[in-house]
Amino acid sequence: MSLADLRREYTMSGLREEDCLPDPFMQFEAWFRVALETDIPDVNAAALATCSADGRPSNRIVLLKGADARGFVFFTNYLSRKARELDANPQAALCIYWAPLERQIRIEGSVEKVTAAESDEYYRSRPRGSQLGAWCSVQSEIIPSRAFLEQRLVEWEKQFENQDVPRPPNWGGYRLIPETMEFWQGRVNRLHDRIRYRRAGEAWVRERLAP
Ligand SMILES: Cc1cc2nc3c(=O)[nH]c(=O)nc-3n(C[C@H](O)[C@H](O)[C@H](O)COP(=O)(O)O)c2cc1C
Repeated sequence: MSLADLRREYTMSGLREEDCLPDPFMQFEAWFRVALETDIPDVNAAALATCSADGRPSNRIVLLKGADARGFVFFTNYLSRKARELDANPQAALCIYWAPLERQIRIEGSVEKVTAAESDEYYRSRPRGSQLGAWCSVQSEIIPSRAFLEQRLVEWEKQFENQDVPRPPNWGGYRLIPETMEFWQGRVNRLHDRIRYRRAGEAWVRERLAP
């Protein structure tokens, strides 16, 4: 079987203009609720694309930890490659694909850091192991070995023995504030449904795009 031979039809559902909720956050919530019921692994995973100041894109998966009318929140290391790219160019895109539902959601907009209080609140909710991991990882840097990480874990465990692990100052959240959000539903003969919401002042304009 070659890659070129891999194909399937998308037949599960459709997306009509009249079924789209007026606000893309409500639409996201409605689709997310269905995705949660569908038992999709890493259902909150999204590809995050950033772009360096000189126009070179990169992307990676992050886990969405907040979604409301203010935007979409993820947490990371503020010294990582993605963070350095966001410092230089605070525009980003998220892309979610839920294969069992034949659905894709694309979100584009500007990114800002969440408040320290929001980062603290989420950090406190994480398991201790993840909290320590945040101290150990010099995310995106070249490191000599696996042993280097494990040694750092031993050291940080010792440092915070018998006490709460504080949030590292270089770890926290970002919020992507959407300018556009597109909902894609796979259909037969590659005539997929695409409904895009575009911000127009305080309102959202809804448009159908060719598949
Ligand atoms: C399922 C999954 C979830 C991930 N979640 C996060 C996350 O929430 N935050 C994060 O910084 N990295 C996360 N990662 C790791 C990133 O994909 C990436 O390797 C890391 O952030 C470094 O990216 P960068 O060097 O481009 O900054 C996740 C990876 C996978 C596969």
